[in-house]
Amino acid sequence: MTTRPSRALPLLLAAGLAALGAAQAAPPAELAARYAAEAGQPAAAVRGEQFFNARHGREWSCASCHGAPPTQAGKHAATGKAIGPLAPAFNPERFTDAAKVEKWFRRNCKDVAARECTAGEKADILAWLMALKK
Ligand code: HEC
Repeated sequence: MTTRPSRALPLLLAAGLAALGAAQAAPPAELAARYAAEAGQPAAAVRGEQFFNARHGREWSCASCHGAPPTQAGKHAATGKAIGPLAPAFNPERFTDAAKVEKWFRRNCKDVAARECTAGEKADILAWLMALKK
């Protein structure tokens, strides 16, 4: 038996709106939970801080552009262009757009570590960034 669209639609809409509501309530936390689930282990802020501040055999660390700690505006290490604070408590736009976050994780991890970051590394970094408070 198939569910008629007229019955399924309100349910789908309700589920979609609930998901949207949750995302708007705490997007960074939701992203963090998604990465930790993907990694299959709880995030560790300490590991995130280490990864962020370390150089990984190349010229730059994450801190080279985002600052240490990334609670203030950073400066692009190559172009000198200003970059808004990365820690979400200091910049409410951060970690609200999963596609943007993924795009920059991919690009920046390749620049810094010559590879993409793992889900575990992303979970750790985000846990640390979320722990930075005013
Ligand atoms: C060469 C400079 C540079 C380095 C090094 C760098 N970033 Fe970035 N990052 C940027 C720029 C530029 C943006 C996009 C502009 C913006 O969002 O302000 C960005 C954006 C981001 C975002 C998007 C966040 C959001 O929701 O807006 C994340 C996540 C991020 N960087 C993480 C990292 C991590 C993790 C590292 C280290 C592995 C790193 N970055 C290293 C320049 C850099």
